[in-house]
Amino acid sequence: MKEGIAGKVIYRKDYTAYPWDVSHLDLHFDIGMKTTVVRAQMEFQLKAGINAPHRIVLNGSDLELISITLNGRVLTHSDYSVEGETLIIPDAPQNSVLKTEVRIHPANNSALEGLYLSGEFLLTQCEAQGFRKITWFPDRPDVMTTYRVTLEADKAGFPVLLSNGNLAGAGESPDGRHWVRWDDPFPKPSYLFALVAGDLALVEDHFTTRSGRDVSLRIYVEEENLDRCDHAMQSLINAMRWDEERFTLEYDLDIYHIVATNDFNMGAMENKSLNIFNSKYVLARPDTATDADYQGIEGVIGHEYFHNWTGNRVTCQDWFQLTLKEGLTVFRDEEFSADMQSRAVKRIKVVRDLRSRQFPEDDGPMSHPIRPDQYLEINNFYTATVYQKGAAIIRMYHTLLGERGFQKGIKLYFERHDGEAVSCDDFLAAMADANGVDLGRFGRWYSQSGTPQVHVTDQYDAASQKYTLTLKQHTPATHEQKDKQPLVLPFALGLLTAEGREIPLQLETEAEAVTGTRLLIMEETQQEFTFIDVPEAPVPSLFRDYSAPVKIYFDYSSQQLATLIAYDSDAYVRWDAAQRMAENAILEQCRQHAQGIEMVVDSSLVKAFRGILSDHQADPALLAEAMMLPAEDYLADQMEVVDVDGIYAARKFIKKGLADELTVLFSECYARLKDGRPYQKSATAMAGRSLKNVCLSYLLETDTGESLAGAQLEASDNMTDTLAAIQGLIMSDSLLAETALAEFEVKWKADALVMDKWFVMQAVKPGSNTVNTVRKLMDHSAFSIQNPNKVRSLVGAFSMLNPTGFHAADGSGYAFHADRVIELDGLNPQIAARMVAAFNRWKRYDEDRKVLMKAELQRIASVKNLSGDVSEIVNNALR
Ligand code: PHE
Ligand code: ZN
Repeated sequence: MKEGIAGKVIYRKDYTAYPWDVSHLDLHFDIGMKTTVVRAQMEFQLKAGINAPHRIVLNGSDLELISITLNGRVLTHSDYSVEGETLIIPDAPQNSVLKTEVRIHPANNSALEGLYLSGEFLLTQCEAQGFRKITWFPDRPDVMTTYRVTLEADKAGFPVLLSNGNLAGAGESPDGRHWVRWDDPFPKPSYLFALVAGDLALVEDHFTTRSGRDVSLRIYVEEENLDRCDHAMQSLINAMRWDEERFTLEYDLDIYHIVATNDFNMGAMENKSLNIFNSKYVLARPDTATDADYQGIEGVIGHEYFHNWTGNRVTCQDWFQLTLKEGLTVFRDEEFSADMQSRAVKRIKVVRDLRSRQFPEDDGPMSHPIRPDQYLEINNFYTATVYQKGAAIIRMYHTLLGERGFQKGIKLYFERHDGEAVSCDDFLAAMADANGVDLGRFGRWYSQSGTPQVHVTDQYDAASQKYTLTLKQHTPATHEQKDKQPLVLPFALGLLTAEGREIPLQLETEAEAVTGTRLLIMEETQQEFTFIDVPEAPVPSLFRDYSAPVKIYFDYSSQQLATLIAYDSDAYVRWDAAQRMAENAILEQCRQHAQGIEMVVDSSLVKAFRGILSDHQADPALLAEAMMLPAEDYLADQMEVVDVDGIYAARKFIKKGLADELTVLFSECYARLKDGRPYQKSATAMAGRSLKNVCLSYLLETDTGESLAGAQLEASDNMTDTLAAIQGLIMSDSLLAETALAEFEVKWKADALVMDKWFVMQAVKPGSNTVNTVRKLMDHSAFSIQNPNKVRSLVGAFSMLNPTGFHAADGSGYAFHADRVIELDGLNPQIAARMVAAFNRWKRYDEDRKVLMKAELQRIASVKNLSGDVSEIVNNALR
């Protein structure tokens, strides 16, 4: 039985160290698709201070045990016991060598955890607890050991045999079998083990580290994808150089492997020197991948590479500490992308992502601190909270300590803990000690869930020229945690005159004024900051660069927002002001719509957009971000009770209104950027395409858009422009959409990644009819319910990115989705659990929808043998 199924909650406070050191693990795989035989030899020594004999506890799941010996003696059933996922040898001596032999069945493994089949090759996924599906072992991250792995297989079927570390030998026998041996000198936890066996093609390059080590970089893909690896390879080389320059961290082995698979539950996996990637984050060619895909590849390639230090060399003591490696590594990949592309645009994308994915999580039935206190199924805790909020909290250390102080802390962290499995407290201690500061209160960010709300009010006294900002922080109770404490918030700000000039800032208590952004610290429930010599009532520019992951409330007038949009020096504040103005306008019209009052377009919004469109100085990518209206789900989050149709109608109305008022400017901007030059990969070219395609999406609300989109599609030499055109035609209900989709299908039907896009475009078409399209598409030959990318593209896109489809008033979207969750649960519980989360916020909807969603949740909950993964989420949602 799977851990957790019996409702076994695991608590952080129950952590105890493993009593044994495991000094080495020798693995031998006799590889076959249907059956693989695994022989393991492991050396146990009892830790100091513990008396022998002592029991050895191992984890295993779905293993056929062939034999087990202890110090050469064959164990019989009376020598050990197996209960659920654990095997216990009660009285093992101080030094114990354990040998096991098990049989596993990779071709039947549809959960994509452990050893499984993808296309024609075999591969593994072990994080978090997949190693136990391969062999008996203490499958917990604080047991670190060196591995020697010998892979033996039929040479014709499995010419490539890979595992972690350095090549340590190979040979073949006359009967067509061969073997390859790998040695990994760095002790690692079992979740970082990997093997790959099959017929794969190779792209190779090199990197010479700063200290002169020549590293062979090898990307393995299926033969037909050899021409799509350039960008991944370039990203890897950039990441290796960047980590040396920014963090002085070098690579530590002679080989770095990346293997791309179409069958993967997540984005990618940082197995020591043998990264396994969802092919979505490796393969790209201008005609198959969008600019967003290119950026995603750069980010994920960087992310997995950066794990080599933050995650692998120093790993987690237990899974509650997951954010120790993930938050830190996301922060590192964000910084990498910011240094490679536009820092400002990257920052905005990160903020949008946090608000649209993490805030709802913090406000829903699965809320948890970045370091959770309990879980039933650890796979449910690879969340936006652990990753994205975790990274936001690492960013606050950086903001508080500065780049130099932060790097000092990182250096001490590695000096103290290289080769160890540690906790978030150890990281905080290294940061504090290296800088001689007390970060005690800051540590609350690790234990408190929920998004803090900061209410800001201001007061200007013309006579004394004093300006006071009052900040109040409050974190609403969350699902699992009622009492909240005030948190440490870095508060970066500026003040502008009405004309947009920066006012020098001087606090009452200070001797001098400083021009530009000031960093203040907020740590009490309520705090006042009074500035002197303020010549006029200023426009506050708050939480510049989004200096803390909070919800910021300030009652801006539209005049003030206009000033920020037009003049603020901080890109995040400019963007946020535009978003606020659009949000206000849409929500206002949504209320009108609900009362049957005719909607109107706010003139200050038109004026602000006119300004944005006339700004020829700013980075086009920033202007594009500013003009993308807040997403429907984000708008829904701002309402007491979500008005699904009202939001859609109001947002559409505002978009069309802006397009009608500003057609000339949108057309000019579009025409200027449509330069007819061949595709380029540069950041400048990507920025141009993003603004051009935002303009196109507005123009599609007018009569001129359709022919522009048709022409763009015709002329396009890259996937970004192609998708923007087709998506636009679909959204505007153009008759050209159907032909465009049909032609796209003919051209790309054999291409898995491109067909994912084809599914998404259709799944997100607004309206209650889309469920029927989606249902039909499930029979398409390119769709497979067994493949996570396909499920995410069709089922996931429909339920999470199509509010008017999923929330259709008759409940058809809900019923369809619940059926898919149930179907998936029998195949791949991890993916089923991701999907079922679409129902998490059911209580925020109107009565009718609540009843419908609750019934579907109950239907799912009542399924026999429901996985721990899905039941944890459903039970929380229903509670
Ligand atoms: N550790 C992986 C990453 O952060 C994510 C992952 C988790 C992949 C679990 C597979 C399984 O990149
Ligand atoms: Zn990671």
